[in-house]
Amino acid sequence: MRIRRCWHLLCEPLQALQLDMAALLSGDGRPLLAVSHQWSALAAHLDGPVALDDAQLALLGRLDREQWVPLAQLPDAAQWLLDTGLALAHNDQRQCACRDQQLRQAHWWGPAAVLHAQARWQGQDSVQQLAARGMDRLDGLIGELGTPPASGRDGDGALTLPPVADSPLEQLLGRRVSCRNFDGGQMLALDQVSAVLWAALAERSTVIHDSGARFSKKGTPSAGGLHPTEAYLLLRNVQGIKDGCYHYQASAHQLLPLAVGADADVGNRRDWSALATRWLAGQYWFADAQVLVVLAPRYDRLQWKYRNHSKAYRAAVLDVGHLSQTLYLAATEAGLGAFVTAAINELDVERDLGLQPFGDGPLAIAGFGIRAAQMTTAELDPAGAVWQPAPEGSGAG
Ligand SMILES: Cc1cc2nc3c(=O)[nH]c(=O)nc-3n(C[C@H](O)[C@H](O)[C@H](O)COP(=O)(O)O)c2cc1C
Repeated sequence: MRIRRCWHLLCEPLQALQLDMAALLSGDGRPLLAVSHQWSALAAHLDGPVALDDAQLALLGRLDREQWVPLAQLPDAAQWLLDTGLALAHNDQRQCACRDQQLRQAHWWGPAAVLHAQARWQGQDSVQQLAARGMDRLDGLIGELGTPPASGRDGDGALTLPPVADSPLEQLLGRRVSCRNFDGGQMLALDQVSAVLWAALAERSTVIHDSGARFSKKGTPSAGGLHPTEAYLLLRNVQGIKDGCYHYQASAHQLLPLAVGADADVGNRRDWSALATRWLAGQYWFADAQVLVVLAPRYDRLQWKYRNHSKAYRAAVLDVGHLSQTLYLAATEAGLGAFVTAAINELDVERDLGLQPFGDGPLAIAGFGIRAAQMTTAELDPAGAVWQPAPEGSGAG
């Protein structure tokens, strides 16, 4: 068998304190805690870090990422590298090997590929994790972390700008408040869904190059004019539309029904609410929105132009952010509530929708729907634009 190391890999030194049992038993007053040194291998084709010792790291560093080496000629630690997936065998059929192969043919900048892979979550409940530390409220957050650094910049001689005239845009911006209180039981009109999707995501006009390549124009800017971000929808209680998952087809302003993976079934029937909460890493306050929009860039489209480019991933993230703001504004204009979150379980979304992390892996979930009559989860509305009066202790998510 011949092996080589994986394609994109970063190794980070880690230090941990360990109880020194020998010191404890000797009772001679030596320090009881010893520092242990380890390495954490962060590979783009794996879903989590792998801990390494110095010898394993040294061997990994000696393996080439392109040249195959017979396993029999290597020290014993090579088999361990193979078992963890950090090394891959010729004709390796494992999922991690397929992903490594995919990455070899793609044009990812290595550190971005590692960041993208390793920042993904599976089965996390971010709400419980914060609540357990009392950090689910602003008071608890400040109690634990102190006050955040102030925004702005000090300096003398600032010029005062003229006051801004009232305008429809001003009023719209004033009414935009991230919604954490949806009335998911009400039916949302299809016209409203259509209006928000059109404004945020639709191709409004198109340029066709002689080669046949299409470049479109949307209501939002996009790096290289490539508009790589695809939108996958979970719709519930939308008039005239069966509950379920759809792909938004930006060129024709259509909804393509999608089969959702069998693993997404909860119990004997498909429980969309449980699926939504899982995708949203436990953030139940978003889960009732009639429309969830999974924002998933097609990295191959972006990297067609930005090959091995250190800014390509940043462009993908910014692209998603721009889309979400347009979605917020369109939903606000339609009298609906909207949100965006990056605290999502990407691996669960990928599995349920059949997305590939390096093909069209999700970066955020936005959503919109009918606002509830009562606020039960805090929103940041000090001006009372949506809620009267502004609640005490309302905080940022
Ligand atoms: C990139 C991004 C990620 C966010 N993630 C969360 C989140 O995980 N949970 C949440 O409740 N709100 C989230 N929000 C909403 C912010 O908390 C919200 O924008 C902020 O508190 C300011 O409130 P406003 O949008 O009403 O002005 C996110 C917003 C952005 C732009």
